[in-house]
Amino acid sequence: MTPPEQAKWDKRYQENSLEPRAARVLTDNLHLLPKHGSALDLACGLGGNALLLAKHGLYVEAWDLSPVAIDKLTLRATGMTLTAHVRDVVAGLPQNRFDVIVVSYFLERRLAPAIVDALRPDGLLFYQTFNQNQCGRGPGNPAYRLADNELLRLFKPLSVRYYREEGMTGDSAQAIRDEALLVAQKIL
Ligand SMILES: C[S@@+](CC[C@H](N)C(=O)[O-])C[C@H]1O[C@@H](n2cnc3c(N)ncnc32)[C@H](O)[C@@H]1O
Repeated sequence: MTPPEQAKWDKRYQENSLEPRAARVLTDNLHLLPKHGSALDLACGLGGNALLLAKHGLYVEAWDLSPVAIDKLTLRATGMTLTAHVRDVVAGLPQNRFDVIVVSYFLERRLAPAIVDALRPDGLLFYQTFNQNQCGRGPGNPAYRLADNELLRLFKPLSVRYYREEGMTGDSAQAIRDEALLVAQKIL
């Protein structure tokens, strides 16, 4: 039987004519990417991050629980250095495997140590997801949203290269109210 979480996402990806979109933490920080190497788009959905990473010249794996999303991404990725796989990421990650890992709009706190271990030395983590400032987007359940500065705590073993979290401070027209964005590097 299909697990409920997979069925939920399959339905969403079947019904909606969504387009893949790379996360801002990646598009704003493309200059930090290595020119060569391997990358993982973890819980990739339609794979906006994965497609951008492959265009940048990296060998990319994209993993998601939803076969519908993975089939759509596989079609788009024809001819690219990108392979998409149906995979429950909670089942585990390989150690010391990726030069870049991107996670957007997915939060499974217990995976944080495994994500750090999956990075190679000098590897970079790009992470972006919702925080506790509910502005009408993202999950309603606060448990699925980051606490204040939580990304910094979850990935404390890594060195911060970029961080953006603005809360309710300053000019609303320019601020990012409801998300946190982190780029961090594994320095041994
Ligand atoms: C909000 S979507 C984000 C998708 C993509 N990262 C993006 O930014 O568009 C969350 C994704 O997590 C996937 N997901 C949820 N639980 C998962 C798990 N245990 N293993 C792999 N993927 C999972 C869902 O199928 C869904 O595609």
